[in-house]
Amino acid sequence: MRIDVLTLFPEALEPYFGASIIGRAQAAGVVTIRCTDIRAFAPGRHKKVDDRPFGGGPGMVMMCPPVFDAVEHVEREDLTPATRVLLTPQGELFNQEIARQLAQESRLLLICGHYEGFDERIRLGLQPRELSIGDYVVSGGEPAAMVVVDAVVRLLPGALGDEESTENESFSEGLLEYPQYTRPREYRGMPVPEIVLSGDHARIERWRKVQALKRTRKRRPDLYRKIIEAQPDLLRLVEGA
Ligand code: ADE
Repeated sequence: MRIDVLTLFPEALEPYFGASIIGRAQAAGVVTIRCTDIRAFAPGRHKKVDDRPFGGGPGMVMMCPPVFDAVEHVEREDLTPATRVLLTPQGELFNQEIARQLAQESRLLLICGHYEGFDERIRLGLQPRELSIGDYVVSGGEPAAMVVVDAVVRLLPGALGDEESTENESFSEGLLEYPQYTRPREYRGMPVPEIVLSGDHARIERWRKVQALKRTRKRRPDLYRKIIEAQPDLLRLVEGA
């Protein structure tokens, strides 16, 4: 997969994409991530990328020309058509299902805004999929781009080692993850539950499923309702426990 990120702060993003799982996935050839500075496409000596809103009001608005030019320039570098994504608090709420959809694409182009917003014609003219990482505002699209890229890249085949798996993670089946333990068996008076030490894999599996269901019911009743609707048999499992 190729991912292009258009941003005013490539230097803020590049170290993250070079480290840990994403860095390793790039080194392994699973994904190539390029950050492009939108300011390089700003006309004039002042390299202006934003301006005051027509009609007045506070703040500055990202201008069309540098954004359109950056998108068109980067898209021309590769024949594969890119799925365009705009990071904005006005977008559709990003989740694991959207991460899975994006992981199927061969090319993504993420556009990070800064300042108070985008000229509306960026939406109209570029027709991006608009994504939000949550109902709060961060200072720019960059943290959101890190979240989206990370969630997508770790789903690509070959991105995670054999030891790491996305199969049993939170949300992989619409449930939060069950509690996990490792050595020591007892720490500061807190023992590991007997059952996970029992060696009885069938019982452990069942216990984990029940714990995941109970945790989801308590912390995320919205997710719990969905999973019970889809798999009503699970109700017997939680209630029998
Ligand atoms: N830019 C600012 N806040 C954002 C959010 N919550 N999601 C995506 N992009 C943003």
